[in-house]
Amino acid sequence: MKTLVAPSILSADFSRLGEEIKKIEKAGADWVHIDVMDGNFVPNLTFGAPVVKKIRGITKMFFDCHLMVEHPETYFEDFKNAGADLICVHVEATKHLHRAVESIHALGLKAGVALNPATSLAVLEEILPYVDLVLVMSVNPGFGGQSFIASSVKKIAQLKQMLKAKKSLALIEVDGGVNDKNVGELKQAGADVIVAGSYVYGAKDVGQAVRSLKI
Ligand code: DX5
Ligand code: ZN
Repeated sequence: MKTLVAPSILSADFSRLGEEIKKIEKAGADWVHIDVMDGNFVPNLTFGAPVVKKIRGITKMFFDCHLMVEHPETYFEDFKNAGADLICVHVEATKHLHRAVESIHALGLKAGVALNPATSLAVLEEILPYVDLVLVMSVNPGFGGQSFIASSVKKIAQLKQMLKAKKSLALIEVDGGVNDKNVGELKQAGADVIVAGSYVYGAKDVGQAVRSLKI
């Protein structure tokens, strides 16, 4: 399948969030990556479902909600009502991952699971048949603008093999430190969804930055 580009609005200008989303839409971005942080699972706070609900009113783009929060299950319904299309939970953030994934599906949404850089792919063994997407963190979650962890390329290649062996159709998403220099090797390794925050929103020409990730 073709690679999808999902700019992260974490690095957008929040005072003009609507315009910032319109910019990436115009540039041909596929998804909006929405980073929700609780100051607990990660040492930073962003925003919650009310903000997502507001931006739902301005675009029909696919909303990819990356929950970096403890007890993520508490918020599934709120995000569903706010207009999320996919909810991704960290395997490190919930004691009952299977229940969490099933709850997301019961709401009619796509379900993803995210892995921190130090988390082994082995945790996917039992949950893989149930998920629509696996998010491989290529930085430690919490902040935009961090340096890409190079070993993530190999991790993605191994995940791709794992999906093949299990005949899984789950998408592979990569998130953190992605730019025009490393996007090629990430696609080559098997990434289907490319998240980029500071590279896109820090660029002089946001449209050009999005397009450079699509090549
Ligand atoms: C980090 C977030 C990422 C972040 C990526 O915790 O999950 O989505 O916004 O930002 P960059 O692309 O700047 O690393
Ligand atoms: Zn993210």
